Amino acid sequence: MTDTPDNPAQRAVTAATSGDEHTRRIRSFVLRQGRFSAAQQRAFEQAWSRYGLDYAGTPRDFDAAFGRLAPRILEIGFGNGEALLYSSQRDLARDHIGIEVHAPGVGRLLNALTAAHADNVRLYRHDAVEVLEHEIADGALDEIRIYFPDPWHKKRHHKRRLVNTAFAALLVRKLRRGGQLHLATDWQDYAEQMWDVLDAADGLRNVVGPRGHVPRPDWRPQTHFETRGQKLGHGVWDLLYERRD
Ligand SMILES: C[S@@+](CC[C@H](N)C(=O)[O-])C[C@H]1O[C@@H](n2cnc3c(N)ncnc32)[C@H](O)[C@@H]1O
Repeated sequence: MTDTPDNPAQRAVTAATSGDEHTRRIRSFVLRQGRFSAAQQRAFEQAWSRYGLDYAGTPRDFDAAFGRLAPRILEIGFGNGEALLYSSQRDLARDHIGIEVHAPGVGRLLNALTAAHADNVRLYRHDAVEVLEHEIADGALDEIRIYFPDPWHKKRHHKRRLVNTAFAALLVRKLRRGGQLHLATDWQDYAEQMWDVLDAADGLRNVVGPRGHVPRPDWRPQTHFETRGQKLGHGVWDLLYERRD
């Protein structure tokens, strides 16, 4: 793949990895800057203009981006996009915004969305923290989903975990009143951290009470990461919160 500024895949990588703010913050991911495969490059060339949102760092007009006014679901760190595709095909009345930094996953989902003729999905290939801070208005989201965020097992890496107190406050701000926050993890230690942070967050209510979890809801399919975790003997915890006044 060439590195010309006109290449949409390269533009997406540059956008995800540049900026002063970006270099200062401890990030929840490490970007492996491998080259795009031919199939991924084709996906970006053919489908990014339809489904992609280039990070601009300014408030986004999502009504214009989707061409309609509808409740909006955000999935953070969608990986290969299995859950996002599944939900978008079954919940046509709501729009789906996906954010992921890993280019191969974005490319794979672009191909799947094209094949499905999806209309209700738009994707960022960028750090979700920056997208939330700068492009999504407060109270704009009906639902936020975070499935199997990187667990960063080692204690010295826990500071990289996505779900922390500051991030929880950001999520609360972006949810509408009565909106939902749904997380899943197969790592008990991370579930404990999620409870510590989210049960204590102002503006959130665990729908089944403190340190409670729910069975996998029917809008979340079992993903590759979950299947792998189960093979390793891990449990799975689905945590469901509601934004309260
Ligand atoms: C363990 S994977 C899980 C993927 C998917 N949710 C699933 O269940 O299969 C976590 C994903 O989150 C993405 N990620 C981590 N931090 C992110 C951030 N700040 N913004 C966007 N994506 C992020 C990673 O690139 C990775 O693909």
